[in-house]
Amino acid sequence: METNIQDGILNILQSARSGVQLEELSEQLNLTRHTVAKYLEVMRAEGKIHYNKIGRTKLWTDVSKDVTIRFLGMDDLDDILRIQEKIIKEQKSNSLDRLVSLKDTTVYRLQHGDPLLNLGADIDGKLVGFVLGEVRRWEFGRGEMTGWILILGVDSEYQGMGVGRKLGSMLLDHFRKKNVEKVRTLVEWYEGDLISYFKSLGFNLLNMLPLEKEI
Ligand SMILES: CC(C)(COP(=O)(O)OP(=O)(O)OC[C@H]1O[C@@H](n2cnc3c(N)ncnc32)[C@H](O)[C@@H]1OP(=O)(O)O)[C@@H](O)C(=O)NCCC(=O)NCCS
Repeated sequence: METNIQDGILNILQSARSGVQLEELSEQLNLTRHTVAKYLEVMRAEGKIHYNKIGRTKLWTDVSKDVTIRFLGMDDLDDILRIQEKIIKEQKSNSLDRLVSLKDTTVYRLQHGDPLLNLGADIDGKLVGFVLGEVRRWEFGRGEMTGWILILGVDSEYQGMGVGRKLGSMLLDHFRKKNVEKVRTLVEWYEGDLISYFKSLGFNLLNMLPLEKEI
């Protein structure tokens, strides 16, 4: 019931062009203003929604409307590392090697990568997510240009609000602008959340098997 009401509020806010008032929400949800107000405060505390005050009126919007996608630079390194470290700690795969290799790749991409393919997501001026991609000129198979999504992360406090979707869709647009027709990524088979995320962007399984040998 609680999540249904939260979903209902989010649906209304997402389909509205501008902010929505409490009265309008209570009317559309057929709930008292008092009940809706309680939900709004909880969702605001969870970082899912915001309000702007115009005079005495509060206009509620969902956070994904306030997500700005922009290019990344070396100034963003510390924020990107903060997000990576948090994600890895939460995944309990707190291996130093993994963090070091993530940092090396991030620094390399920020310094030498294509700026169009390194994107960040800001909410209220704070970096809350990032994605780093590249175009490879030669790929196994037909030798066509292929886009690769290399590293992606959304701060866990801001997950589930559409930040990842905005980052992913914008990166795909930039690949299209570069005449890339295929985009690939590698995901561990057990990472269900990431697989669902990529499926939601239209990715499918590739008919290739990754092979590896330790040397
Ligand atoms: C995957 C990830 C980028 C998604 O970001 P997000 O901002 O939470 O995603 P969105 O809110 O935009 O969701 C987009 C879609 O992805 C899917 N999705 C996202 N999180 C999901 C989850 N936990 N379970 C299932 N599906 C999920 C859903 O289909 C969702 O669409 P819906 O909201 O219409 O259901 C984010 O969870 C993340 O950063 N995970 C860790 C990534 C990682 O391990 N990186 C390596 C180290 S930095």
